[in-house]
Amino acid sequence: MMDIAERMGRLGTESAFEVLARARALERQGRQVVHLEIGEPDFDTPDHIKAAAKRALDAGVTHYGPSAGIPELRDAIARHVAETRGIEVAPDEVVVTPGAKPIMFFTILALVNRGDEVIYPNPGFPIYESVVNFVGGVPVPIPLTEETGFGFDLAELERRVSRKTRLIIINSPENPTGGVLDPDDIGRIAELARHYRVPVLSDEIYRRFLYEGRFASIASLPGMKPQTIILDGFSKSYAMTGWRLGYGVMPPALAEHMTRLMTNSASCTATFIQHAGVAALQGDDAPVREMVEEFRLRRDLMVDGLNRIPGVTCQRPRGAFYVFPSVRALRRPSKEIATYLLDEAGVAVLWGTAFGEFGEGYLRLSYAASREAIGRALEAMQKALARLA
Ligand SMILES: Cc1ncc(COP(=O)(O)O)c(C=O)c1O
Repeated sequence: MMDIAERMGRLGTESAFEVLARARALERQGRQVVHLEIGEPDFDTPDHIKAAAKRALDAGVTHYGPSAGIPELRDAIARHVAETRGIEVAPDEVVVTPGAKPIMFFTILALVNRGDEVIYPNPGFPIYESVVNFVGGVPVPIPLTEETGFGFDLAELERRVSRKTRLIIINSPENPTGGVLDPDDIGRIAELARHYRVPVLSDEIYRRFLYEGRFASIASLPGMKPQTIILDGFSKSYAMTGWRLGYGVMPPALAEHMTRLMTNSASCTATFIQHAGVAALQGDDAPVREMVEEFRLRRDLMVDGLNRIPGVTCQRPRGAFYVFPSVRALRRPSKEIATYLLDEAGVAVLWGTAFGEFGEGYLRLSYAASREAIGRALEAMQKALARLA
């Protein structure tokens, strides 16, 4: 018997991985499942990126590298972020990690003391709240509501932000709602962050998946760069979820602490994979643009199809690759509906409360699946939900 440390009781999880495991178990029993639960493009990684990793392996790039990342990649990221956000970025402000998730974990670990408050979106990526609880911080959720297009409730933010706030987390385009923060919203969040001198973790992993308007980063606003941590990576934009490659951009003093966290945990990110990252940033961008155009078509297919199902209503999200339809009219807990859809319709989706208490009444479906699979899922859902009603 092993006694588990008390802190483990405060660590949450990401339900997408649990539902994926359940769906795979059903498939092993011979059932057919359409996977709309996990947040990853179904596209293959572009060839020139794979070729760069193979070349690196063949050239013997199989050893440890610097904890903060290889200089070539930190340099390429600094240039890429400078160009895409219109700010100056130096390589020593970049920390490379295995996937972007560690940037979230390390930022909270490095900045939040026991009892410190952290503001974050709810429904939102579940790991924010999980890690804040883990370090003994106090989660302060800001509800995102359908009525306001799933943007931050700024009035609520103004009420909740205070001298006790140690970190504000924003995510635009957003998982799970597909909501996007408008420049005015970002401007107001920046004003409050500056006034209270609160750092902002800006999760920009879905930056490329924006179907209307231009992307705006809070780091680009006057005075904000020294108090912003940009989180970004390769998983979504370049269809590289399984490669595990992400990064943060932050002031050098914080980058040193993040680097020490890397030394204490993973040592470094796989070096041959970092060479693939350089190829992704410097190579042909057309595959990314084509993927995003295809996702726009799938979004419309999904939204239109869902709105034809009695009891379901769905807004057309402006970003990411998720829809967040309301199933309130079905008058059952969203988790029950999601479980029913997997068991009865063979459609794996997530329930809104997997993203926080304010997600009740909604489901999250990823449309990073083929149009054919989306069509099959919609048909199966329509039949199953008709039986439920
Ligand atoms: C909002 C958000 N941030 C960060 C991540 C983490 O990405 P990665 O796979 O690079 O760790 C995800 C992945 O699902 C996400 O949805």
